Amino acid sequence: MAEGVVSARMDALAGSMSGLMDFLDDPVMQGVSDPDAADFVFGNPHDDVLPEFWQALQRWSKPKSKDWFAYKLNEQEATQVVAGYLTQARDRPWPAERVLMTNGAFAGLAVSLNALVDAGDEVIYTRPPWFFYEALVRSVGAQPVEIEPAADFNLDLDSVAAGLTDKTRAIIINSPNNPTGRIYPAGVLERLSQILREGSARAGRPIYLLSDEAYNRILFDGRRFPSPTDHYDHSLLLYTYGKTLLTPGQRLGYIALSPEMLDAEQVYESLFLAQTLCGWAFPSALMQHALADIQKLSIDVDNLERKRDRMITGLREAGYGTNLPEGTFYLLVKSPTPDDAAFCRRLAKKGVFVLPGQAFGMPGYFRISLTASEKMIDKALPVFAEVTSTAAT
Ligand SMILES: Cc1ncc(COP(=O)(O)O)c(C=O)c1O
Repeated sequence: MAEGVVSARMDALAGSMSGLMDFLDDPVMQGVSDPDAADFVFGNPHDDVLPEFWQALQRWSKPKSKDWFAYKLNEQEATQVVAGYLTQARDRPWPAERVLMTNGAFAGLAVSLNALVDAGDEVIYTRPPWFFYEALVRSVGAQPVEIEPAADFNLDLDSVAAGLTDKTRAIIINSPNNPTGRIYPAGVLERLSQILREGSARAGRPIYLLSDEAYNRILFDGRRFPSPTDHYDHSLLLYTYGKTLLTPGQRLGYIALSPEMLDAEQVYESLFLAQTLCGWAFPSALMQHALADIQKLSIDVDNLERKRDRMITGLREAGYGTNLPEGTFYLLVKSPTPDDAAFCRRLAKKGVFVLPGQAFGMPGYFRISLTASEKMIDKALPVFAEVTSTAAT
């Protein structure tokens, strides 16, 4: 592209997402829109939408007042629903005044980084990160600091401690983790909070913990979710309804400041300003009205777990190595050949589309989204078996 046409900043940020972009631009990927394609690429819906979801939108789209569709901020009707849920789910009072409504966790991350992080600060997160962490951190002029995970994909606390400096302003923790499916145990989170408290004391200012809990209600095998926000006062809970309802295009989420956070009023004010300046990052009026009904809905997580088990059995029988995700939509599979992108292209040529590890910083693996339909799984399992048996040829 010719220089000077767009901002140099955006040009540079594109580089941090090139793995994903290259994959999406690959000509063989264009087949993913074929109606017969088995699409395991992203956490997108491939089954019918929950009827209660669109019925709620229908019900709440009828205006009850003249200002029904006026500019909306952090509306009390919505923040109270969130606070009521968190109070009950997290076993302690969570005031509605600590909740800010956002267009999903994506906007929650952008708003939090804008509100809390200065140019030159450092932001830590564990590898492999969600696709957009690096660009989001760089977009506020901060420096990303990537930490390797432990061998079992747990948090490596020694690496976190070693990564802290006086410039560290925030750490992003994603549990349940995309793409590893790992849920960090309470004991690990408690030790993490101790490390962060010590780091904050050394630096003379708080290190904020951004708890990316996009998948906190997608849990398998009867697990409970230990939240980092239960262990650390300077934490912000970032949530999206796009996963629990499998409606990622209908943007809705929130930021909830820990009830124990000191200086919460100042942090709230800064987040509020960032919500406005990030281009009105408040959810639409309709989504905020409908939240009263939407909050209690969820996709069938037991069914997702059955799909996980079916995929794992089929893939392992075909000779693949897979992890056992504890939550999220995703299954990590070891690529039978070192070049994961080449292997994924072979699958794609047979109508099965998965995400190569190169696109998300895990070369040698690929990721499967369990949101694919049963029909897609029926089609894909024989293809996985066939392609791996000929992988070396
Ligand atoms: C780990 C993680 N964080 C944040 C998001 C953003 O979610 P949303 O687009 O619903 O805001 C996603 C979506 O894929 C995710 O996987």
